[in-house]
Amino acid sequence: MATATAEVQTKAENQNGEQKTRHQEVGHKSLLKSDALYQYILETSVYPREPESMKELREITAKHPWNLMTTSADEGQFLSMLLKLINAKKTMEIGVYTGYSLLATALALPDDGKILAMDINRENYELGLPVIEKAGVAHKIDFREGPALPVLDELLKDENSHGSFDFIFVDADKDNYLNYHKRLIDLVKLGGVIGYDNTLWNGSVAEPADTPMRKYIRYYRDFVIELNKALAADKRVEICQLPVSDGITLCRRVS
Ligand SMILES: C[S@@+](CC[C@H](N)C(=O)[O-])C[C@H]1O[C@@H](n2cnc3c(N)ncnc32)[C@H](O)[C@@H]1O
Repeated sequence: MATATAEVQTKAENQNGEQKTRHQEVGHKSLLKSDALYQYILETSVYPREPESMKELREITAKHPWNLMTTSADEGQFLSMLLKLINAKKTMEIGVYTGYSLLATALALPDDGKILAMDINRENYELGLPVIEKAGVAHKIDFREGPALPVLDELLKDENSHGSFDFIFVDADKDNYLNYHKRLIDLVKLGGVIGYDNTLWNGSVAEPADTPMRKYIRYYRDFVIELNKALAADKRVEICQLPVSDGITLCRRVS
């Protein structure tokens, strides 16, 4: 019914010679129109249900000069729900910063759950660690300081690691996402999920290349565009691009 109405509308618009922008195509239902709407989501559904420890960590992180890097509270809530829905027990996180998404994960896993967490910067992780310890979930975390790629290469040498992760969250150096994907596809289990964060990269992926952009946005933009194309073409995974936060693409391994 809704489809037929949209088709009639489209025809009428074309007869009047009006240009239909592509986002008005059949099924267009994007609701997020304003910052006020985002704030509404946070205040109505996210903050009231945010665990006390995550609130504390969010407030500590807000005072840190690189706080732009943190996972947002709505994305934290999304990750927590997803992990519980898929009954995740063994996970990996690339890019920890002060640990907001790590804490969301650690709280969502069962008591014997395990997270292999990697970051080149231990200092920032240690800023959040006391909160993680107080929440009683630090025993689930195996933190490795250093670049993630060599750790993945090491894991791949061990047959037992292949197909062993229920969930992998990638939120670090965007210029290596495709290098991560090459390795992670063998480490995630069949039916398991890899989540690539920032796949809408501040909206820049849909902007013309000559649009003025901040330097770091411009630098990583092409890598994110490349990744999005590669994931869309990769038959080993089913994908779902969600416009949560800065965009997260879920890849469910199917072969
Ligand atoms: C966007 S932040 C991660 C945010 C985090 N998920 C959170 O919830 O706050 C990206 C992190 O990736 C780390 N990083 C950058 N290059 C890396 C690499 N090659 N290997 C591992 N971590 C890296 C940075 O130190 C930074 O802490």
